Amino acid sequence: MTQDFIKPPVEIRYAKELEALKSTDNGRKPENWVLSPKAVRTFILGSSKPIKYNGEEITVKKKFFGNDPLVERCIITLAGSRGLMLVGEPGTAKTMLSELLSAAISGVSTNTVQGTAGTTEDMIKYSWNYALLLAKGPVKEALVPSPLYVGMSKGIITRFEEITRTPAEIQDSLISVMSDKVLNIPELEDDGLLFARPGFNIIGTANIRDKGVNEMSSALKRRFNFETVEPVKDVRLEKQIIISEVEQNAVSDKIGMPVDTDIAELLAVTYHELREGVTESGVKIDKPSAVMSTAEAVSVFYQTMSNAWYYESDTMSFRDLTENLSNAVCKDTKDDLERLRAYFNTVVKFKAEKYGGSWKEFYEARKYLK
Ligand SMILES: Nc1ncnc2c1ncn2[C@@H]1O[C@H](COP(=O)(O)OP(=O)(O)OP(=O)(O)O)[C@@H](O)[C@H]1O
Ligand SMILES: [Mg+2]
Repeated sequence: MTQDFIKPPVEIRYAKELEALKSTDNGRKPENWVLSPKAVRTFILGSSKPIKYNGEEITVKKKFFGNDPLVERCIITLAGSRGLMLVGEPGTAKTMLSELLSAAISGVSTNTVQGTAGTTEDMIKYSWNYALLLAKGPVKEALVPSPLYVGMSKGIITRFEEITRTPAEIQDSLISVMSDKVLNIPELEDDGLLFARPGFNIIGTANIRDKGVNEMSSALKRRFNFETVEPVKDVRLEKQIIISEVEQNAVSDKIGMPVDTDIAELLAVTYHELREGVTESGVKIDKPSAVMSTAEAVSVFYQTMSNAWYYESDTMSFRDLTENLSNAVCKDTKDDLERLRAYFNTVVKFKAEKYGGSWKEFYEARKYLK
C-alpha cells in the first residue's frame, strides 16, 4: 500500500513502528488510546534502542525535532478534557505533529476537517443524504457524519486544520461540543444526542501569518491549550531535517540520487540567517518579509535535485538552486529580491572567500537571482 499513494497517511507509512511499539507497550493508558502517552512520545521523538518485533529489529525514528517538552505537553493535553491548538509560523510542522499525534493515539490521522473561508456548520457537525432524507425522513441512516461526529462516536481524535480560516461564528459551533462533550441533533427525535466516547479530542492548527488567530472567540480559546511551534533554531538540526525529508521524498519518487550534504548545509545556513536577520558571526542583515521556513528549504532543495535527476546531470546545479531560491523568497514582494541580493553581496561573498567550495559556487551563481 505504501507504494500506491503519493503520500500515504502516517499510520500506514509507519505501520511497523506503531505495531512494534504496541507490542511492547505496558505504560499507563487513557481509555481508548491505542498507545500509552510514553509510547506516543517514543513514536514521535524516537527510541534509543531498536525494538524486537516479529523477529525483526525496528528502530523508531525521531520525527519532530527541536522541542521535546512541547511534544510531551501536547500528549498530556490530549489525555485531558481540553483541546490542543498548535499555532505558529507556516512550515513549522504543525500539521505533521498533529498527524503523528492522531496516528499514535487513535490509530488514524485522516479524521480531519479542513478549515477554509467556505467551511460551514454542516461540515463541522453533520449533513444529510438528501435522497435518503426524502425517502425515509430524518433517520440516522440518512445522516452524513462529519469528522467531528466520527471522532465523538468512535472515541478518536478529530483534526481541525487551519481552524482560524473558518469564520468565527462557524468555529463557535465547537464550543458546546468541547465543554459538554455532546452534540445535539434536533432532527433525530429519539436519538438526538450524541455523547462523545472516551478518547475523543480535537487538535486544531492555525497559522499566525494568515489573518486569523485573533479572530477566534475567547470562549473557544478557553477550551484549548495553546502551544506555539517555533521554527527550528539550530542550523545543524535544520540541515538534518532537510536531508531526511529530501531522502524520504526521493525514495517515494524513485529518484536514485544521493543527497548532497554540503548543499543541504549551505541552504540550512542561508535559511537560518535570513529568517533570524543575523549571520552566524552576529552581523545584522535585512530580513525578507517572506516566510523562510524549513519546509520551503526542503522544497527548494528537492526541486533542484529533481531537475538534476530528470535532466540527467550528475550533480545539482547552483544556477537552479539560486533560481529556485529566488522564486521561493520573492513571491510576495520585489523588495525581497533586493534583500536576497544584498545577502549574496555581503554574507555569501564573505563565506565564499573564507570557505570556498560550495559557497564559492553559490556566490558565482548570484547573477541568476531574478
Ligand atoms: N521541527 C521540525 N521537525 C521535523 N520536521 C520539520 C520541523 N519543522 C519543519 N519541518 C518540516 O517541514 C514540513 C512542513 O510541515 P507542515 O506542513 O506540517 O507545516 P505547517 O506548520 O503545518 O505549515 P502551514 O502553517 O503552512 O500549514 C514537515 O513535513 C517537515 O519536513
Ligand atoms: Mg499545516
